[in-house]
Amino acid sequence: MLSQRFFYFCAMANNDDQFKKVISHAKEYGYIFGSSEIYDGLSAVYDYGQQGVELKKNIREYWWRSMVHMHQNIVGLDSAILMHPTTWKASGHVDAFNDPLIDNKDSKKRFRADVLIEDYAEKLQQKADKEIEKARKRFGDSFDEQQFITTNPRVVRYLEQKNEALTRMARSLENEDLQDIKKLIEELEIADPDTGSRNWTEVRQFNLMFGTKLGASADSAMDLYLRPETAQGIFVNFLNVQKSGRMKIPFGIAQTGKAFRNEIVARQFIFRMREFEQMEMQFFVRPGEEMKWYEYWKETRLNWHLSLGLGEENYRFHDHEKLAHYANAAADIEFNFPFGFKELEGIHSRTDFDLKAHEKYSGKKLQFFDPELNENYVPYVVETSIGLDRMFLAVLSNSLKDETLEDGSSRTVLSLPAILAPVKAAVLPLVKKDGLPEIAGEIIDRLKFDYNVVYDEKDAVGRRYRRQDAAGTPYCITVDHQTKEDGTVTVRHRDSMEQDRVSIESIDKILRNSIAYGDWLS
Ligand code: GAP
Repeated sequence: MLSQRFFYFCAMANNDDQFKKVISHAKEYGYIFGSSEIYDGLSAVYDYGQQGVELKKNIREYWWRSMVHMHQNIVGLDSAILMHPTTWKASGHVDAFNDPLIDNKDSKKRFRADVLIEDYAEKLQQKADKEIEKARKRFGDSFDEQQFITTNPRVVRYLEQKNEALTRMARSLENEDLQDIKKLIEELEIADPDTGSRNWTEVRQFNLMFGTKLGASADSAMDLYLRPETAQGIFVNFLNVQKSGRMKIPFGIAQTGKAFRNEIVARQFIFRMREFEQMEMQFFVRPGEEMKWYEYWKETRLNWHLSLGLGEENYRFHDHEKLAHYANAAADIEFNFPFGFKELEGIHSRTDFDLKAHEKYSGKKLQFFDPELNENYVPYVVETSIGLDRMFLAVLSNSLKDETLEDGSSRTVLSLPAILAPVKAAVLPLVKKDGLPEIAGEIIDRLKFDYNVVYDEKDAVGRRYRRQDAAGTPYCITVDHQTKEDGTVTVRHRDSMEQDRVSIESIDKILRNSIAYGDWLS
């Protein structure tokens, strides 16, 4: 509930500024640090600080509960990062896990050629959207968007140009015609976004897997890869889990864990990292039923995102034009990051590609005997795959706000969903004497078994409130002199800044209600 007393949101100067603010806030409040910073860092590798590790754990838990605990037919797995190298031959990663890269000869910067074209297409879409918005305002209630999109010459041209560029790119990538990708970039007059230079090299393929070695001696060492996705650990364990868990199709296997990619362009903080964490689920279904489950998981996963309350308008589906080598349908759930709508999660109908390939390369049968059909088959798979770090960035960037209050003062608040907040409550003695710190300590001792709570006694209470607002703590519990008389405290709500006087006994209920999974996930 919002208080009447205050605030309106300060519009950030622009998205770039907002993104910079997110990055510096993440460092200042112990969410994210650059890796090995004292040695000037390692590009696109990050460490999570004391707050970040809690937020990350809570996001992982929120996903795990919704996928594994809430589905009787989904179970978990924790497979190793290192896998037999033939895994990656079978999965197609050795031959096809490539990105097309292009260098700018003047700026010496490296780009993903397909991303340059996609960004160009996105700009055309934005131009079309602008025209549509203008017309909506002009025509009011009588506005027919569909008719406008198909008849307004400017919008028709923008959308045609966009579709032509994406279709040609998809065709050229499919045919591995990298010369045509370069030609397309030149024809579209795409320039280096930082310098404006159009002096491009040829386009080349670049395999994204990190190699490593197993074994001590140089001659007997075996070449391995750090896994580029967690999914293959699920596929190779399909029969182990199915048999030991007596799973019946349809069923799913979920896992979270690290993945590694030698990304060509890694300039967007934790959006594109070289070491990151995935939360993936493979759902094994009868052949021919995959489209039904694909639609089911698209809807279910979108609802999971919406349950966090980051704003329906910040999500959209993007159906893939170019399908990965293993998919017969694929869509992204895109999120409105500070740098625009970008992929947050992928939902892929992967057919029986992976299991069949592992059958072929291992010589082992990976089939299910379906008692209802009385036949063996290789199941089809629908996959949901989300980057934990990307989800972290979505939550963090959406939650960080500058507010101007009614009295003219301002505050920075990180309005994280309470269920995800690293610290659920800060317990603050009003002063550092008169027995108030001791009472605060007792409250912490009552709460610490169920909630991550912190104690803070430094500075005036107003400053402590602001500090907790910026750190994302949903509740501040203040112990004052009245507490000694009647056993009550004030509970201050981060988002509304309203304060309630409640008994010490009722704090537990307030916290419990605010983070009840049943309320968030149902
Ligand atoms: N198993 C399918 C798979 O890995 P993907 O689209 O390559 O599909 C799935 O990756 C998700 O993993 C993406 O939607 C994204 O959230 C996350 N992801 C991929 N590459 C990433 C990177 N370099 N840094 C951070 N997250 C990444």
